[in-house]
Amino acid sequence: MLKKFQNDETLAEAVSDQIESLLQKKPDALICIAGGETPLKTMAELVRRNKKGKIDFSKAYFVGLDEWVGLGRETKGSCRQTLYDYFYDQLDNVQPDHICFFDGKASDLDTECKRIDTFIEERGGIDFILLGVGMNGHIGFNEPGVPVDVNAHVVDLDDVTKKVMSKYFDQDLPLTNGISLGMKQIEQAKEIVVAATGAKKAEIIERTIQSEPTTEIPATLLKNAPNTQFFVDQEAGARV
Ligand code: GLP
Repeated sequence: MLKKFQNDETLAEAVSDQIESLLQKKPDALICIAGGETPLKTMAELVRRNKKGKIDFSKAYFVGLDEWVGLGRETKGSCRQTLYDYFYDQLDNVQPDHICFFDGKASDLDTECKRIDTFIEERGGIDFILLGVGMNGHIGFNEPGVPVDVNAHVVDLDDVTKKVMSKYFDQDLPLTNGISLGMKQIEQAKEIVVAATGAKKAEIIERTIQSEPTTEIPATLLKNAPNTQFFVDQEAGARV
């Protein structure tokens, strides 16, 4: 289902409403929020509601979506830095051991993937996932041509991702790999919101909405999941 919002603020409010009502029903829900720019407004809105006592995250669980291999929290622009600085550390009463995040500097990345998979399995799957869409249609670091039937795994970054990545960092980084939840466990999430904002996402949103599910545009694969909603603002939704 495609839903258009006036702007990125109203989109963030709608996502926050969904998370708020989920936590009322299931206080210990497992929530996953993407890194990158798209979810920043939603994070701010959730923090605001938490400070006002409207949303209680004290029993909630969180899992990371992805990370650049080689980066940790000390690098501004890493997924870990984004999630911790703008979200987890801003919330009252979050239990640190309820947060499971990819360590992009782990020496054994396969073991790191298994650790994340186990955390998700032990919680009975992801209850709510907020995803952004890459300029090439990627979801997390599931790049075009992604295998569909995998859980957390290490990825070779696509050329488009390598070009776009400089927007996150204030230095040139020779990054070649990502570590990401896989499409299998993403598609199994009980509620999925794929969000896109801003004019630069208009073309990929058009391709995503108009295409049949194909591994060439990983975002289209989420059409196969019954609980997927595509949330766009006016600019990102200008062609659909
Ligand atoms: C990035 C990240 C994803 C993100 C997506 C869109 O490369 N790996 O977690 O959701 O691409 O990013 P943005 O929201 O900055 O456009």
